Amino acid sequence: MPEAIKEVVGDIFTLLSEGHSRNMLRRGLLAVFLLTGLVRGAPPNVVDVGYASYLGNQTYPNAVAYLGVLYAEPPLGTLRWRAPLPLNITRITASTHGGVVNATEYPEFCIQGSTGDGDAGGAGSEDCLKVNIYAPTGAKKGANFPVLVYFHGGGYVYGNPRNWPFDHWVHQTPDVIIVSVYYRLDVFGFLAVEDFSDSENGDFNVGFQDQIQALKWVQKYISAFGGNSEEVTINGQSAGGSSVELHMTANQDKTLFSRAIAQSVYRTPVPTVQEQKPLFGFFATAAGCGKGPTTAQLSCLRNATVSALARAQDNASYGSL
Ligand SMILES: *[C@@H]1O[C@H](CO)[C@@H](O)[C@H](O)[C@H]1NC(C)=O
Ligand SMILES: *[C@@H]1O[C@H](CO)[C@@H](O)[C@H](O)[C@H]1NC(C)=O
Ligand SMILES: *[C@@H]1O[C@H](CO)[C@@H](O)[C@H](O)[C@H]1NC(C)=O
Ligand SMILES: *[C@@H]1O[C@H](CO)[C@@H](O)[C@H](O)[C@H]1NC(C)=O
Ligand SMILES: *[C@@H]1O[C@H](CO)[C@@H](O)[C@H](O)[C@H]1NC(C)=O
Repeated sequence: MPEAIKEVVGDIFTLLSEGHSRNMLRRGLLAVFLLTGLVRGAPPNVVDVGYASYLGNQTYPNAVAYLGVLYAEPPLGTLRWRAPLPLNITRITASTHGGVVNATEYPEFCIQGSTGDGDAGGAGSEDCLKVNIYAPTGAKKGANFPVLVYFHGGGYVYGNPRNWPFDHWVHQTPDVIIVSVYYRLDVFGFLAVEDFSDSENGDFNVGFQDQIQALKWVQKYISAFGGNSEEVTINGQSAGGSSVELHMTANQDKTLFSRAIAQSVYRTPVPTVQEQKPLFGFFATAAGCGKGPTTAQLSCLRNATVSALARAQDNASYGSL
């Protein structure tokens, strides 16, 4: 038995004897499965980014999709309405236990708002700061393929990267890496209240900052997938197109991308925080957090359930304001 497999089998016995969770056991078995594949010479489709390894799905002969790869800490609890935190590598290494992360399934999309056609928002997950990466089969560090980063549309209110897959593109032209970004939407991504000018209370435009954090992650780690971090093009359509224009205007760090493609740009005026004040009041009241001062409203809102916030955001978007 090859050494690596012996080691993993040893790990599994340790896990069993220590009574570890099934999840860990599943990861251990996944590692054995992958190593067995290696020994047989099967294409592994595993990328090691340094702090974790990801197993992708061979969706086309020339393309592999690595789905739901984390690029920031989950923005949960007190991190709601705060700028995304870079990944805590210590936490991830501990939680994956050196195993391979199965990235063959699309993750849950970010919490949606209503499209305004009578449907309700609220589907999805708050733990959504992830990217899907589409790479040519067998792409390796050093391939230096140019990178396209895609921001989806949906008026900053809804949208799901799964609906804009790129594996068929990569299959046809297997000399590019494409990354599509999940970012916080609607009130989860864009709540505005004057108190956010003091970052103790929270941050403005966290959905937009998510996109920036994804670009920073790409800078650090895309080479592991065969990408060239010095040749990143940002691209988006509708709200994604307007994101691209905003990044071109607001970007202080020229190293995050070098080219930009904005399609069917969404150009509604961006309201000021003062103009948003009544909307914040309406939202807080609808979510059951109407009693000020705003710092108290915010701690109540950070403790509110996703469904309470989703109902309130629907009413604030298409209700009486
Ligand atoms: C990865 O996860 C998918 C979906 O849960 C599952 O069907 C597949 O068997 C898993 N792959 C491995 C190698 O464990
Ligand atoms: C994984 O790839 C197979 C084809 O190899 C495809 O049938 C399946 O839908 C893919 N899964 C996802 C989540 O794209
Ligand atoms: C990162 O995670 C580790 C392990 O969970 C924790 O001890 C540490 O405080 C975290 N670091 C930061 C900066 O949050
Ligand atoms: C949202 O609006 C609907 C219809 O006007 C109303 O019935 C419901 O009570 C409102 N919900 C909240 C949380 O304000
Ligand atoms: C948080 O919400 C729960 C109910 O979901 C409530 O019991 C608790 O008092 C709230 N805590 C704070 C600090 O508002």
